[in-house]
Amino acid sequence: MRPFHDKRVLVGVSGGIAAYKTAELVRRLLQAGSDVQVILTSSGARFVGATTFEGLTGRPVMQSLWDGSLQHIDLGRWADAIVVAPATANLLAKLAAGIADDLLTTTLLAAPRRALLAPAMNVRMFEHPATQANLETLRGYGHELVGPAFGELAEGEEGWGRMVEPDVIFACVGRALEGESNWRDKRVVVTAGPTWEPVDSVRFIGNRSSGRMGHAIAAAAWRRGADVVLITGPSHVPAPPEIADVRTVETAEQMGAALNAALTDASAVFMAAAVADFKPAAPQEGKIRRASGLESIAVEPCPDLLATAGRGAPDDCLLVAFAVELGEAGVDSARRKLEEKGAHLIVLNDPSEPGAGFEVETNRVTIIDKSGAAETLPQMLKAEVADEILDRAERLLPGD
Ligand code: CTP
Repeated sequence: MRPFHDKRVLVGVSGGIAAYKTAELVRRLLQAGSDVQVILTSSGARFVGATTFEGLTGRPVMQSLWDGSLQHIDLGRWADAIVVAPATANLLAKLAAGIADDLLTTTLLAAPRRALLAPAMNVRMFEHPATQANLETLRGYGHELVGPAFGELAEGEEGWGRMVEPDVIFACVGRALEGESNWRDKRVVVTAGPTWEPVDSVRFIGNRSSGRMGHAIAAAAWRRGADVVLITGPSHVPAPPEIADVRTVETAEQMGAALNAALTDASAVFMAAAVADFKPAAPQEGKIRRASGLESIAVEPCPDLLATAGRGAPDDCLLVAFAVELGEAGVDSARRKLEEKGAHLIVLNDPSEPGAGFEVETNRVTIIDKSGAAETLPQMLKAEVADEILDRAERLLPGD
């Protein structure tokens, strides 16, 4: 899986209770196709045994400076990305001061690239001016810090100091591996999921969209360095945890308002949401009773958000539409939608095909550009589809 496949990731584990979560990080990296080497400090080994990491990676865990000659130099050179999770106050202090007294600190000091550090410690240790100064120094040296998060700490305390979740660290490693990209610092707005249009206080008209395709685009754009706003309708699938700016809406009207607010400085908009076309004309307060003998629900059209979004977005903003079409005539209909909505690209999918559309992890899409050229991609994971779409959209980005 891009960008992890065939990449070498060095994972340093120092001594904190969160070390058990690093096993999950290692598992995710391996699953995504990375080659992982773990360095365990002696205090790290008090929390998680080397056997756990050896079982996962199939490689001996490195623990001592004296296991072989010059391995601290080789390991740093070997790695495409280096992550330390958890990074304790002591590890951070040593790294800030340039102390190299064990295999991990020596490797970090000798490495040609900076590390991703996931601090984890007690809240008072984190807030101590010495730790704060060390973190500042480490940022200045070019290391990237992820977290710590606020929450429950060891021994029943609460505060800043929790290691961020492995999923987020995994995403950050992905961003570190991704390298340079035209998406860096570009504002990207993604819509995802269904909308719910209320019939009364307990019922709504919705659709089967799970939000997965939009989430995958948001995650891939974030990984490439974009500044992502994810506007999502109600979905049981959680948004990617690394996306900080998630705006949750319910109706098409709310999605439109959120879109307009996010659009002003957008470089690209991906309209992956399945926005309602019609909504009940007069949603009722309370519950419509069976005894009311309701025979029909009057509906009225919802605005086409994409067609109107084009007006609020900067002139050179790239608009990527999605089209749900069932059956043969899909490509012609999607071409027409691209034209009518003023989009630059349209991504067509047919949820009636196996492994495509709503509620599944995979998709089969056809990407159509303004010239009308249509490219059909094989069935792949939505995360992979997202990268294919971003590759094509990147060529059309403003200013490139
Ligand atoms: N879309 C939108 N606002 C709507 C409906 C759709 O912005 N009220 C956007 C969708 O997010 C998608 C694109 O328009 O990017 C096409 O959506 P689709 O449901 O395939 O097409 P519709 O325009 O709704 O046309 P139809 O339902 O007739 O196929």
